[in-house]
Amino acid sequence: MKIAITGAAGQIGYALIPLLLERFKVPMELSLVDLPDKLTQLRGLEMEIEDFCYPHLKKVESGSDEATLFQGADVVIFLGAKPRGPGMERNDLITVNAATFLRQGKILAETANPHVKALVVGNPANTNALMLIRGGNYKLKNQIQALMRLDQNRAKSAMELSFGPRKEIYVFGNHSPTILVHQALPEVLEFVRKRGAEVIKARGVSSQASAAKAIVDHLEDWISKEERTYSAAIYSEKNPYGIDEDLVFSFPFSNKKGILKLPLSQEEKQMLQITEDEMKKERQIACTILFSN
Ligand code: LMR
Repeated sequence: MKIAITGAAGQIGYALIPLLLERFKVPMELSLVDLPDKLTQLRGLEMEIEDFCYPHLKKVESGSDEATLFQGADVVIFLGAKPRGPGMERNDLITVNAATFLRQGKILAETANPHVKALVVGNPANTNALMLIRGGNYKLKNQIQALMRLDQNRAKSAMELSFGPRKEIYVFGNHSPTILVHQALPEVLEFVRKRGAEVIKARGVSSQASAAKAIVDHLEDWISKEERTYSAAIYSEKNPYGIDEDLVFSFPFSNKKGILKLPLSQEEKQMLQITEDEMKKERQIACTILFSN
């Protein structure tokens, strides 16, 4: 299995790679991608990976040329996205990242394995994933997902700490404070919506180890030969919830059957509308770059 990772020199990459190698004990090649000014750090990471001495790791390479490093990839994990800097508005962030993901979407569609599975983690993850789909001219629309598993894990863990074991818990919509947690108590919903910001406030940086764990959980379910159900932001075409058709929206998802239809309360339907509206606005902002070049 060839796995390419963008933004690999960052802290999520550092936490992710050992977990990937532990979770997937199959012959593996790793391709690490980052910006040209990160190449020395990337080489350091490559050295540490070699020193892990995993017999199933067949090759590790690094660089900044996506076309070379995505070549034949079975899985591509997009960690790299520009974080919000001082004085930067959220809208600026959306447009800067939209340009990157459009460009990378084209390269992905041209170079990766035609059956590639691509997982977008860098924020705004859902809209970045949509731009990746558009960049590849929709060729990979059903093979690109955005990470919602961190939210699902947060919700499940919060529920289980209070009430004991739970079945799967699903999240809908955007990876943002408008997210909807299905059948959650109001305090759990509030908890999930604020958790990312709480971690940033406490650590000074966003979640890294828990994001890495969520990525391997997501990938394991996605590539499993058995049926697995989980929350994933996927291309919204023909969804049974009436959500606009050109978004990357989180739904309960089966890796074998696609979107699952669950009954929603009236209040949940209203919340769904709010998160959908937010994503439509993000899409509109992201798409301004399509017409400004
Ligand atoms: C998280 O959910 O922890 C992050 O996506 C938050 C962020 O804005 O980095």
